[in-house]
Amino acid sequence: VNSPRIAVVGANGYGAHHRRALAPLVNDRTVDLAALCDLAPIGDEPDAPVPPGTAVFTNHRAMIDNIRPDVVIVATPPHTHHDIAADAMRRGADVLVEKPPVMSMVEHESLCSIADDTGRACQVGFQALGSPALAKLGAAIGSGILGSITGIWSYGAWQRPDSYYARAPWAGKRTLNGRPVLDGALVNPFAHSLMQCFAVAEACADRGVIDEVELTLFRARDIEADDTAAVRVRLASGLTIVVAVTLCADEIADPVVVVDGEHGQAKHSYKSDGLRLPADTHPHVLPGRVNLLTNLLAHRQARNDIVLLGDLRRTAAFTQVAEACLGHAPVRRIDPDRLANVGSGAERLVTIPGITAMLRDAASHLLLPDLTTLSRSSR
Ligand SMILES: NC(=O)c1ccc[n+]([C@@H]2O[C@H](COP(=O)([O-])OP(=O)(O)OC[C@H]3O[C@@H](n4cnc5c(N)ncnc54)[C@H](O)[C@@H]3O)[C@@H](O)[C@H]2O)c1
Repeated sequence: VNSPRIAVVGANGYGAHHRRALAPLVNDRTVDLAALCDLAPIGDEPDAPVPPGTAVFTNHRAMIDNIRPDVVIVATPPHTHHDIAADAMRRGADVLVEKPPVMSMVEHESLCSIADDTGRACQVGFQALGSPALAKLGAAIGSGILGSITGIWSYGAWQRPDSYYARAPWAGKRTLNGRPVLDGALVNPFAHSLMQCFAVAEACADRGVIDEVELTLFRARDIEADDTAAVRVRLASGLTIVVAVTLCADEIADPVVVVDGEHGQAKHSYKSDGLRLPADTHPHVLPGRVNLLTNLLAHRQARNDIVLLGDLRRTAAFTQVAEACLGHAPVRRIDPDRLANVGSGAERLVTIPGITAMLRDAASHLLLPDLTTLSRSSR
């Protein structure tokens, strides 16, 4: 049996991470790296040298037509995902597309129908969906040990230096050349928080139908998109989800997803596959994260038996929130007098004193933080 032939579009940037992940699979012939495509020259990756025989292209359509790959990994900027994934599926390839998958519900519906019509799989790179901690949390919710679920909330507080916003033309933007890119804290760096909350809601038998989305979007930096933001989603099932995040942390807090039930609380740290259930004295790190490319390859072999963990269809509620962010009134500016600058040059940080506690406190009460207290117009 021939190894599946993989191609990567967007081979630099985060695509280099995919190339590094592919390298051992290429070495043991689990896959064949058939082609790489990027608008820019392919950068050197000491841990993932371009294998001899791997073709290099600058145009993804030319690549797909020439190479006819079995699987296309799409690791280009968000506004290009829809068209590249659509072209790949229409030409017979299964797709692993990076998060955020698409920028609107129109694009979401379009890709879902192309997947339906062509019978191709479209996996979205929400890698935390492969976390064994999420699976165990879902099983715990199903077993009833938390009692009925009263809310799902997440907060996360990171710091990003000036260089982060200089890394790509779409960094910190809401649109680029008239197209939505939405590099906001909620939809991009903390995309996994939001998606993980919807995945937990699924475990509560929620069908992902949204009744209401309330947003508060702020920016401490001179960017278009939010760097400090929160969303409160009311699902038709009655569940409430709150996600509150910042890239201007005064106190760094890796994102955590908390499930409140009438009999206790569960905490899931998706980055580290951590889980603490009510009876646990401390959090446990669960081994065995399922890699989403491996999951996609297994699904190709046995479509009916292996569930596609990051199936595009699972991401509708996520994209509805992304769309709401784009339709939201301009992101409000936090009063510069409320900010602290740390360091200088490309590594300068902008922090908001008190923000981490404020986000954690609001989210834990299933409320949006009142960030208007930080904006100039409110003084
Ligand atoms: N899963 C994760 O945790 C994770 C982490 C980081 C980034 N990402 C996602 O990965 C994607 C890429 O992010 P990035 O920071 O690497 O972006 P980037 O702007 O650095 O782009 C990556 C590469 O794509 C190339 N490219 C752009 N348009 C192209 C086109 N039409 N055809 C071929 N190549 C093209 C660029 O030249 C660049 O080398 C984004 O969707 C991002 O959100 C996911």
